[in-house]
Amino acid sequence: MIIVAPSFLASDFLHLADEVDMVNNSAAEWLHLDVMDGRFVPNISFGIPVVEFIRKATSKVCDVHLMIEEPEKFVAAFHKAGADVISVHIEACRNLHRNIQQIKDLGIKAGVAVNPHTPIASLEDIIADVDLVNLMSVNPGFGGQKFIAHTLHKIAQLKQLIAERNPSCLIEIDGGVTLDNAPQIVAAGANVLVAGSSVFNAKNPQQAIDHLKTACEK
Ligand code: DX5
Ligand code: ZN
Repeated sequence: MIIVAPSFLASDFLHLADEVDMVNNSAAEWLHLDVMDGRFVPNISFGIPVVEFIRKATSKVCDVHLMIEEPEKFVAAFHKAGADVISVHIEACRNLHRNIQQIKDLGIKAGVAVNPHTPIASLEDIIADVDLVNLMSVNPGFGGQKFIAHTLHKIAQLKQLIAERNPSCLIEIDGGVTLDNAPQIVAAGANVLVAGSSVFNAKNPQQAIDHLKTACEK
């Protein structure tokens, strides 16, 4: 089963309640919430209070992607705000193993996110401890960028590492996912598709989610 996770970075913040309702009524299983600090990435998005209000308006899985430095300072607050999954960046963590344990100790799913330049080999000693790998298919910081094709090779490498060390670990692909490239991404081994612009900028976002799911089932 493919999980679709619409990324609210591309949503209309003035009408957030309607956007959450749209996802609630859709076939998407997860909501992807991109938190940026203007330090780890060259952009600032939204933070804890927004996650908290979205959480109250949905029973879908809240997947929080922390693109922030020193995430360990904020993990407890995002958990309290209602995150079901928290991913931290390998490039932002000096003590990644400790940070992953910190998330797991809260009783929620822990993910590690990796930038396009970070090799899959750098996950070898953490893969057994995580529930999910967010494989970035664009450089983090902005929605609406083009999918980096090399990610397809990385998915295949990651799939092999996961088969060897942690078969239940999910592969999430984040950035530039469209109806056109989704079948290829899923064929390579992805389990979770994050989609921002291709969902929220569509004429009919709910239908775009349905199409993403059905395109992958073919
Ligand atoms: C990028 C974010 C993504 C982004 C995806 O830094 O992590 O989740 O919102 O947006 P699209 O689907 O527009 O590339
Ligand atoms: Zn993201």
